[in-house]
Amino acid sequence: MRTKLVAGNWKMNFTRVEAAAAVEGLVKAVDYRPSVEVLICPPYLALQTVAAAASGRAIAVGAQDVFWATSGAFTGKVSASMLSDLGINYCIVGHSETRGRFGKLETPASTVPYFAETDETVNLKIKSLIYCSLTPILCVGEIESERVAGKTDTVIEGQLRGALSGLVPEELASLVVAYEPVWAIGTGKSCDAPEAGRVCRQIRGHLADILGSEVAEDVRILYGGSVKSSNSDEIFKTDGIDGGLVGGASLDPQEFARIVLSA
Ligand code: PGA
Repeated sequence: MRTKLVAGNWKMNFTRVEAAAAVEGLVKAVDYRPSVEVLICPPYLALQTVAAAASGRAIAVGAQDVFWATSGAFTGKVSASMLSDLGINYCIVGHSETRGRFGKLETPASTVPYFAETDETVNLKIKSLIYCSLTPILCVGEIESERVAGKTDTVIEGQLRGALSGLVPEELASLVVAYEPVWAIGTGKSCDAPEAGRVCRQIRGHLADILGSEVAEDVRILYGGSVKSSNSDEIFKTDGIDGGLVGGASLDPQEFARIVLSA
């Protein structure tokens, strides 16, 4: 039985004071529910503050990205061992925004290579997280033109195979995958629940092929992209969806609490 997971991705928002206040607000608005795991992924600079505020309160803390090397001359980067040192349990990898693909902000295609995220770097990041016993939240999803061209399933299968290549299935039982159609991120246009469920079930099928069905059964598959309290009920009751990765709506503790409660 997979426990539902509702994760808030705060992206580049909140100072430390604002972050601590948001955790307080969330704790007040939502009691501990053993049936739902709640996770917050603040910016690096607020990780320690959020970890302290969340301590003893059944809220897990995750990072939004990681670099794969353990240490060395990598200016501006943060390693999995540094996250582990802070007591962080989860880390998002391969988010469309670290891949340079923004749902709302039109980024010129020529800038995408500067984000330097490929399936290969996502794979290295997952390996470094597993090595440090952190749980990766692997994001996959198509851009609008890929969906229109009927390439959604092929794109996602390629992202999964690239990200998980060379990994030992037994190490991935705690893996979380988030289906995040890029065109639905931050745009207010969420993917309708039946289609999101179809893609999530398809993802589990690919995971069964790559990792074996036993491990694939344990992987939690989330939906992300304009999740809010007005659509979370329908999304979370859809077969194949084990929770949500919530961006904008996780910044308001009351709204995020409503989403948690609907799970
Ligand atoms: P959104 O972002 O909820 O603001 O669409 C989701 C995400 O990027 O994880």
